[in-house]
Amino acid sequence: MTHASESVKSPPPPPSARPPVLEASDIIKTYRTGWWPRRRTKPVLRGADLHLLPGEIVGLVGENGSGKSTLMNILVGALNRDAGSVTQSGLVGFCPQEPVLYERLTCDEHFELFGRAYGMVESTMQRSRDDIYATLGFAEWRNARVEELSGGTRAKLNLGLALLPDPDLLLLDEPYAGFDWDTYQRFWQLTRTRRDAGRSLLIISHFITDADRFDRIYDLIDGRTVAR
Ligand SMILES: Nc1ncnc2c1ncn2[C@@H]1O[C@H](COP(=O)(O)OP(=O)(O)O)[C@@H](O)[C@H]1O
Ligand SMILES: [Mg+2]
Repeated sequence: MTHASESVKSPPPPPSARPPVLEASDIIKTYRTGWWPRRRTKPVLRGADLHLLPGEIVGLVGENGSGKSTLMNILVGALNRDAGSVTQSGLVGFCPQEPVLYERLTCDEHFELFGRAYGMVESTMQRSRDDIYATLGFAEWRNARVEELSGGTRAKLNLGLALLPDPDLLLLDEPYAGFDWDTYQRFWQLTRTRRDAGRSLLIISHFITDADRFDRIYDLIDGRTVAR
């Protein structure tokens, strides 16, 4: 490289000095259901803040019904917020709590479909897909339809589809709920490999035992995030 700007290029700043890949502030969400006189309103988020830096694994922890999925759905744009802002840079992979899969399609067909939706080159998609099969250990199911899969294998496919485009930012909503111990270990190995490559992960968990696997944790309490 002889380009002038290359010769004066400074070393990359430490992670803490880099701008966030995701920043959400003052997120407010109230669910409204039914019609008068049976109208119900349920305030779930009352000003939640959250940010993610490059190269960190952050946990979002809270009791059942505290609003973790609501917040993550808002972060990925799958749900409208009442107020607040979300800014994000780079490619996002999202693994919803309830797998969104097609019963009649095989695992391979899912990767094919999602690869096209992500605009991936076929050979890149195949390499990534085979890597995911090997890492999560479900290559034997590649030609099976989703309707034949166990809950655990569905969870692997759900996670695999989020991983497929090698996103800068991964948002995972209780991704390992259906995993056996071996897959659970492989999952955490995978998250560390991604983190060390400068990617960021936000993971919803309700297991207190996972605490030491995160670089940082937000507790979701009374509709607000509290940095632990
Ligand atoms: N679409 C909806 N309409 C009405 N209430 C909802 C809806 N989705 C979730 N809720 C309620 O909002 C609260 C937070 O839900 P959720 O974000 O799924 O919590 P978590 O993921 O922390 O378990 C719960 O009380 C839940 O029943
Ligand atoms: Mg949830």
